[in-house]
Amino acid sequence: MKRIKEVRLLVLSIVVLVATVYQAWGTANLRLTNLKVEYADHPIGLMVENPQFSWEFDSDRRNVKQQAYRVLVADSPEKLARSEGNIWDSGVVQSNRSVGVRYDGSALQSSHTYYWKVKIWEAHDNDSIESDVAVFETALMGQSDWQADWTGFPFGWVGKVLYFRHVFHCPIAVTSAKVYLAGIGYHELSINGKKVGKNVLDPATSDYARRVYYTTFDVSDFLAQDNVLLISVAPGWYGMPKLRMQMELTFADGTTRRITSSDIRHVTTGPTVRSGILDGEYYDARLEQENWLLPTDTIIKGLPNETWGYAPFVEPPGGKMVSQHLEPIQVVEEFHPVRMEETSPGVYVLDVGQNMAGWMHLNVLGKRGDVITMKFAETVYPDGTVNQENLRTAEATDTYVLKGDPAGEEWEPSFTYHGFRYVQVEGYPTQPTLSDFTIKRVRSAVADAGQFNSSNELLNSIWLMVKRTEASNLHSIPTDCPQRDERMGWMNDMTVRIEQAIYNYDMSRFYPKYLVDVADTQDEFGRITCTAPYRYGARPADPVSASYLLLALKSYEYYGNKDVLDQHYDGLKAWVDYLNSRTNAGILEYSYYGDWSPPAEFGVAGAGYGAISKSTPGALVSTGFLYHSADMLAKIASILGKQQDAAAYQTLALKTGEAFNSRFWDEEAGGYGTNNQACNSLALSFGLAQNERKARTLESLVNDVKKQGYHLTTGNICTKYLLEVLTENGYVDVAYKIATQTTYPSWGYMIENGATTLWERWEYETGGSMNSHNHPMMGSVGSWLYKYLLGIIPMIDKPGFEAFIIKPYIPSGLQTSEGTYQSIRGEVKSAWHKTGNRLQFEVKIPGNSVATVYVPTTKEQDLLVDGKPFRKHEYVNYQRQEGDFAVFSVPSGDYRFESTWTN
Ligand code: BGC
Repeated sequence: MKRIKEVRLLVLSIVVLVATVYQAWGTANLRLTNLKVEYADHPIGLMVENPQFSWEFDSDRRNVKQQAYRVLVADSPEKLARSEGNIWDSGVVQSNRSVGVRYDGSALQSSHTYYWKVKIWEAHDNDSIESDVAVFETALMGQSDWQADWTGFPFGWVGKVLYFRHVFHCPIAVTSAKVYLAGIGYHELSINGKKVGKNVLDPATSDYARRVYYTTFDVSDFLAQDNVLLISVAPGWYGMPKLRMQMELTFADGTTRRITSSDIRHVTTGPTVRSGILDGEYYDARLEQENWLLPTDTIIKGLPNETWGYAPFVEPPGGKMVSQHLEPIQVVEEFHPVRMEETSPGVYVLDVGQNMAGWMHLNVLGKRGDVITMKFAETVYPDGTVNQENLRTAEATDTYVLKGDPAGEEWEPSFTYHGFRYVQVEGYPTQPTLSDFTIKRVRSAVADAGQFNSSNELLNSIWLMVKRTEASNLHSIPTDCPQRDERMGWMNDMTVRIEQAIYNYDMSRFYPKYLVDVADTQDEFGRITCTAPYRYGARPADPVSASYLLLALKSYEYYGNKDVLDQHYDGLKAWVDYLNSRTNAGILEYSYYGDWSPPAEFGVAGAGYGAISKSTPGALVSTGFLYHSADMLAKIASILGKQQDAAAYQTLALKTGEAFNSRFWDEEAGGYGTNNQACNSLALSFGLAQNERKARTLESLVNDVKKQGYHLTTGNICTKYLLEVLTENGYVDVAYKIATQTTYPSWGYMIENGATTLWERWEYETGGSMNSHNHPMMGSVGSWLYKYLLGIIPMIDKPGFEAFIIKPYIPSGLQTSEGTYQSIRGEVKSAWHKTGNRLQFEVKIPGNSVATVYVPTTKEQDLLVDGKPFRKHEYVNYQRQEGDFAVFSVPSGDYRFESTWTN
C-alpha cells in the first residue's frame, strides 16, 4: 500500500517540479495561487455536479489582467502532466473570469480523485503561466451510493454516548480507503486507537429530517492487516445517537471491499457517561477499556454480554445524505489561563482573559476515583466564584473522574462546548498551576479575512471585541450566543451580522451552507422560521429576517457565487410573496422583535425581556423590510435575467415605499414614525426617504443624536443603519462620536466595564433572563470599520471583486486607519494617515481586479500618486471630482496617494 502511494507521490512531485521550472523560465513574475474548487483548497468529499473553480493571479508588476484561461481536469496526474484533460478541457477561453469558472465536462463519478490545473494568459504583455497541480475528490454523489443502514441503540439512553466497534482484516495492501461517516448528533472515529482527522463536533448540524451531513475521511494511512474501528456517537443536537457509515477499500490487486454500519454489530456505552451540548460532559476514566483497541474479536464473548449489546438497525433520521462542504469545527487556538484565584480551600477560579467559545484540557495526577468538576461562566460573583445565572438552564459543567494513572492523566471533552471566560475547578487533587490547564478555542475553521488598526485604541479594541464575538459564534451555524441554553441561528440577528462576518472571516462556504438551513425551514406558503435550523421561535419569521435574501446576495457580491442565487431564487421569491400576502393597504403590520434590544429606557417594560422597542413601531420596521426585501429580490431577478420578475418586484418595492411614506411620514416633525433614530435611519438606509424628506430626516436624525449627547437609542437592527447613513451623508464625525462613545450606551461603555466580547444588551446585567455577554447581533460597528473607515466595498455588477470600490471617510478626530481584506481575488489594502494638512493614502488592488478609488481631497490640483502629479501617472486614471473625493480607476498593484486634507 505504502509503495504505491510513494510512486504516486513521486510522479506528482516530478509534475510539480517540471511545472515550477517552466514557470521560473517563462514567467518570472506572474503568480498563480490559491486554486480552489467550490471555494475550498483540495476538497475531499465534493458533492457538486458542476463545481466552480477559482484562482488568484498576481504579479510584482502592476496592471495585471487575465486575457484568457484554460482549465484541464484529468483522472491521473500523469495525464495532466501531458496536458491531457481527459475529464475536461475548457479549451482556451478568452475571458478575465477567475472566480466561478464552471466545470463543464463529463459527469463526475462518486468517490473519485481528480487532478486539475489552469493556464492563464496575461492581457498586457503576452505572458502566460500555468498553475501547480491541484486535486479534488468527489464524495458519494447519489443517494443510491449509500448502501449502509442506520444503526443505533433502541433504548436511546438519554445523554449517553454510544461506542460502536468493528474488527476487520485487510489481507492485501490497501491502496485507497475512504470513510463516509454520519454519526448524529456528533461523531468521532478512531482506527487502531488513533483518532482520524482533526475535526471536532462533526458533522455540521442541520434539520436532520431534511438533510444529514456526512464527513469524508481518507484513512489509508491508518490501516494495517488487522484493524479495529471505534466510532463514538453523542446525542449532540440530534438528541439520540445514530450512525451511518460506509468505508470503501481498494486493494493493491484492484479488488474492492465495502464495510458499512450494517456490518457493525457491537455497541456499548463507555467512559463518556453523559454528554450534552448545553450541560457539559461527564467522563469516568475508570470505564476506559484498553482491550477495545485490540484488533481482535476474542475480547467479546457471546452477545449480548454485560458490556456489549447488539447494535440494531434503527429508523433513519429522514433527511438526505449530503457531503459536508463547509469548514469543519476544529480547535483553532490553544493557550493557558492568565490568572487563578483560590476563592476558598480547594476551589480554584481560572480567568482565561477573554470571553470565548471552546473548552479546557486538563493535566492531572491523582487517585483512582478522584472527581474534578469544571464549571464554566462568563462572569464571577464579588467573592470570585463563577456566576452561571445568565446561562439559564445550561449546566455548563464538565466532570472528570480519574483512573489513577501513576504517570498522570489528561482529558478534554469531545462532544460539548462552552461559552466562558472563567472556569471554577473543584476537586483537583493537588495544588494546580496555570500550565495544568490549556484553553482550546473551538469553532468552524473558517479562514481569517480582515485586519483593522487605527490611531484610536478604543476603536481597535472594538474591532477585536466584534471579531472575537463572531469567532465565538461559528459552530456550523451562526449562533446567537455560545453559552446559555440557546445557541440558535436567529434570522433577525443575521440581517445585520452578515457583512461584519464576511469582512472578518471567509464565509464563502459557511453561508451557502447556512442558506440551505434557512431554506429547509420554509413551508409551502413561503414562510421561514425565526431560527434555522428550526429549534424554536415563530413561523413566519419576523419580517426583519431579510437575512434570507442577504445571505444569497452577499455571497454573490463578495464571492461571485451565482449558484446560490439560482438555487434559492424560488425560495426567496416565496418569502417575499408571503410577506406581501400579509399586507393591508401596503402596510405589513406583523412584527415580534423589530429593532430588538434598544437601551433599556427605550424598551417596553415587562414584555419580551424589555427588549421590544417602545418607540419604534413594529409595522414601520416590517413594512420597511418588505420594501428592502422586494428591492433586493428585484436585483437578484435582474442578475438572473428574469426581467419580468425584476420589474414586478421593483413595482412592489415602489408601492410599499409609497404606503410607508403615506403612513409613517410626519410632516410636522420632519421624520418617520416617532422621529427617533431607529425610524429615521431605517428609512434613510433603505432609500425610503427621498428628496426634501431625505434632507429633513437626516437633519432630525443628527439633531436627535446630538440631543442624546452623541449616544444611540437603537437596537440590534437599526444601529447598523444609523452609523452607515450618517457616514454616507456627510456626518462621519457624528457617526465616529457614536462609535467611540465611552458612556452608556455604547461599545466603549461595554469595554470600560470589562467586556471582551459584545453584550446582548447595552446594559451590563447578569441574572436569569436575557443578558448574554457574547452576542454578535450588536456588532455591526465591525462592518462599519471596513466599509467606511477603510472604505472597502464590493460592486454588485462586478461581483467577486472583479471590480470594487475603496472610499474611505476621514473623521476629524482620527489620525490613521489601516487594514486589509482578503478578497476572493487576493488581498485588498487601504491605509491612510494625516500629517498636518496632508493625507497619505495607500491602497493595494489584487491581480485581475480593478478598483474605483476615492481619494479624499479638498484641493484636487496638488494630488500626487507615487510622488508624481496624478495626471502623469502611467496606470492610475483620473475620472472625476465627486464632493470631497477625487475619483480614480486603479488597476492591480500598490499605490500611494497624497492629497490636501483638512478636517
Ligand atoms: C436571541 C437573540 C434574538 C432574540 C429574538 C434571543 O433569545 O438570543 O439573539 O434576537 O431571541 O427574540
